[in-house]
Amino acid sequence: MRFFSLIATTLQVSALALGTAAVNRPNSTTTLLVNAIVGKQNASSVECWAVEPGFQISPQLDKTGNNILQLGSLSSASYSVWPNAGGPIDLGFHNAPAIQWVVMLMGGGNITFPDPTTPNLTVSPGELFIAADVAGTSTDGHRTVGDSGSVVLQMPFEEGAIVNHTILSYSPCN
Ligand SMILES: *[C@@H]1O[C@H](CO)[C@@H](O)[C@H](O)[C@H]1NC(C)=O
Ligand SMILES: *[C@@H]1O[C@H](CO)[C@@H](O)[C@H](O)[C@H]1NC(C)=O
Ligand SMILES: *[C@@H]1O[C@H](CO)[C@@H](O)[C@H](O)[C@H]1NC(C)=O
Ligand SMILES: *[C@@H]1O[C@H](CO)[C@@H](O)[C@H](O)[C@H]1NC(C)=O
Ligand SMILES: *[C@@H]1O[C@H](CO)[C@@H](O)[C@H](O)[C@H]1NC(C)=O
Repeated sequence: MRFFSLIATTLQVSALALGTAAVNRPNSTTTLLVNAIVGKQNASSVECWAVEPGFQISPQLDKTGNNILQLGSLSSASYSVWPNAGGPIDLGFHNAPAIQWVVMLMGGGNITFPDPTTPNLTVSPGELFIAADVAGTSTDGHRTVGDSGSVVLQMPFEEGAIVNHTILSYSPCN
């Protein structure tokens, strides 16, 4: 009897643990899932990050239910307009100049890596991502090929202030 109740308790506990993990796993309803180009073990790759904490409902605009997310403390943002080159513009392999948010306001691009087995990242117009493979984290960095006429907003984090996050996968967000 005691044996069976022990099994039942164990099963209950593990079911609870599994249930909790599934419910607590951040998703795009509750937070921003964002692709982050990182440099680890001397190589760049893309991870899917859930930004923590998740969305808050704006207290001023609570009637609209707008979701608001803090992007962290930022420093020295820049806005760049790529020329109309009549074809894709290849930035070649490079490191991120700073750990930063990047917003593709217009245009788009493809980000690839020296290792052909590393999953690539396609950046669509309007997409927000993080570039964090700064010098010292990855010798080769990543290669960006973007559309002519792309407009890109870069917002570096203040020194040491990278936004809190959990890693959801070691590959791009779905
Ligand atoms: C997303 O997360 C919230 C809060 O944890 C949860 O209520 C909801 O069921 C989740 N949605 C999906 C599709 O997993
Ligand atoms: C990423 O793109 C490059 C260049 O197009 C290609 O050689 C590589 O196989 C791609 N990687 C994957 C994992 O598909
Ligand atoms: C880092 O990667 C570069 C380029 O792939 C390679 O030449 C170098 O030896 C690597 N350094 C270390 C410490 O692994
Ligand atoms: C990115 O890759 C897609 C799919 O291969 C391609 O259609 C698009 O032209 C590429 N964009 C650039 C800027 O090279
Ligand atoms: C990250 O979370 C920790 C613990 O909650 C907090 O102390 C820290 O200020 C947060 N960092 C940023 C950049 O928000």
